Amino acid sequence: MVTWLLSYENHYNLIREKILVGGEIIRNGGLVAFPTETVYGIGADATNPEAVQGIFTAKKRPLYDPLIIHVSDIEQMKELVTAIPQKAKELMTHFWPGPLTIVLPKSSLVPSIVTAGNPSVALRMPSNPIALELIRLSGKPIAAPSANLFGYTSPTTAQHVEQQLNGSYGEIIDGGACLVGIESTVISFLTETPKILRPGGIDQSAIELCIGKVISDQYESLDELSTSPGMLPSHYATSTPLKIVENINDFALESNVGVLVFGKSEQVFLGPVEYLSLSSNPSEAANRLYQAMRRLDGLSLSLLVVQLLPETGIGIAINNRLKKAAINY
Ligand code: TXA
Ligand code: MG
Repeated sequence: MVTWLLSYENHYNLIREKILVGGEIIRNGGLVAFPTETVYGIGADATNPEAVQGIFTAKKRPLYDPLIIHVSDIEQMKELVTAIPQKAKELMTHFWPGPLTIVLPKSSLVPSIVTAGNPSVALRMPSNPIALELIRLSGKPIAAPSANLFGYTSPTTAQHVEQQLNGSYGEIIDGGACLVGIESTVISFLTETPKILRPGGIDQSAIELCIGKVISDQYESLDELSTSPGMLPSHYATSTPLKIVENINDFALESNVGVLVFGKSEQVFLGPVEYLSLSSNPSEAANRLYQAMRRLDGLSLSLLVVQLLPETGIGIAINNRLKKAAINY
């Protein structure tokens, strides 16, 4: 019991130390990889354009794809925008801290590199306590995209981040596996009726219960609105081609095909299988999705196959990611 307590205390102190060091690095214009409840992010001081440039370089991310700014309190958020519509306030009250990103008109404090030259800024208050403490101790709003190379599967553990971005940040804070496992919902308040630009951790139905009707746009974001989708590399992609199929059982005899299975299955597969949720729980599937995609991707297979989930709740966000990662959409 005493040993357990001591090791817990050591672990706590270690994380605490890392957050302190991370805060210092952010203040000095460096990069820190850190956990959020959705996926791991790679962050920099959002008010420092050179620091933010470092994120784009580390991720090989094109400068036309804007970043989300993470805040630890409402006062910090207010300085970054010029107006907050009543419905946006209601969403913040209800869902922050949490996996909801809100797009509002930006203030002059936000450098244009963060927003890719757009007059709007995307803001989120994460609920992961390590993320919140890092922002608070750094004293800065933190611009952070998911901590993967541009176009590839997002990381849900510190090991995933190390595999793709090792060496390109000053510090990584290991907070274990992310709880939600899929990125935040992005909602824009630039239009008369609020518009969901990316489905994610918070359901459209939960948002509508709070503020009434919203529009759901199948485009993920500005980059896809302003550029021909065909010209963009796919998003959330595995290196092994991923195919969305009508029936995964058709691939049962293919030993070189990896299979992502949503619920329970009686089928025997010759190739490797990842079960996303044996109880067919979409939240559990979201939590396991990227980790499962990465494991199968590491097995040098010729193909990965998956069936879409029922289009409800977080299943909508999962299907959105699968379609963007797939070769046949
Ligand atoms: O859960 C998340 O949102 C994670 C964690 C780290 O917070 N972050 C994340 O960031 O997924 P990223 O950069 O991978 O995706 C941010 C999305 C992109 O699709 C981007 O185009 C969109 O948000 N976005 C950022 N600023 C925007 C703006 N001003 N207007 C519209 N879309 C914007
Ligand atoms: Mg991303």
